Amino acid sequence: MTTTEKRENQLTDPISSNPSFDDSESKIAVAGHPIHAMLVAFPIGLTACALGADLFYWWTGDIFWARAALWSAGMAFLMGLLAGLSGTIELLAVPGIRARAASWTHFIIAMTLLAVLGANWGYRLYGYEQALLPYGLLLSMLSAAMVAFTGWHGGKLVFDYQLGTSSSGK
Ligand code: HEM
Repeated sequence: MTTTEKRENQLTDPISSNPSFDDSESKIAVAGHPIHAMLVAFPIGLTACALGADLFYWWTGDIFWARAALWSAGMAFLMGLLAGLSGTIELLAVPGIRARAASWTHFIIAMTLLAVLGANWGYRLYGYEQALLPYGLLLSMLSAAMVAFTGWHGGKLVFDYQLGTSSSGK
């Protein structure tokens, strides 16, 4: 064995050697089912609704779609806040989730998303029809891209790192 190989064998990863590394079961849950995973469907779906309503307004000019976009954007933001709250409590309360850098990456991406969702709603509050073209639509497009990125990354936490899942497999 060379000196470099010997040195590599002695190295330990301070994150994976953390005694709580495998303590990553969800604590914010109903009968073991994570509340965060239940809530994220709302901002994801409502962001898609806001973009769809914007596109229909652009196509038809019917003010109904501008109102639908205002409500969808607002509810996407408010439900996003609830999803973010449940995720943040989970992040802070579960040692194995807190220890992973990927959880904090998800937190930063999600906070950026919430800022964009808030801007998309707030911008429309003082005249939802005038706000729509072009900036409302552009904000909805950015929101859709950001929500897809956040959702994909959240999926990574669950499917790649098994965070928030049951360790008993029952
Ligand atoms: C703002 C702070 C947030 C934090 C700290 C956070 C944290 C987490 C954590 C720890 C998980 C792992 C599963 C669990 O323990 O429940 C997760 C999963 C996930 N997150 Fe977040 N999250 C945040 C916001 C969001 C938002 C706003 C979305 C909306 C798109 C989102 C989308 C997801 C998705 C789709 C999953 C996978 C759920 C599953 O398939 O079971 N997260 N998040």
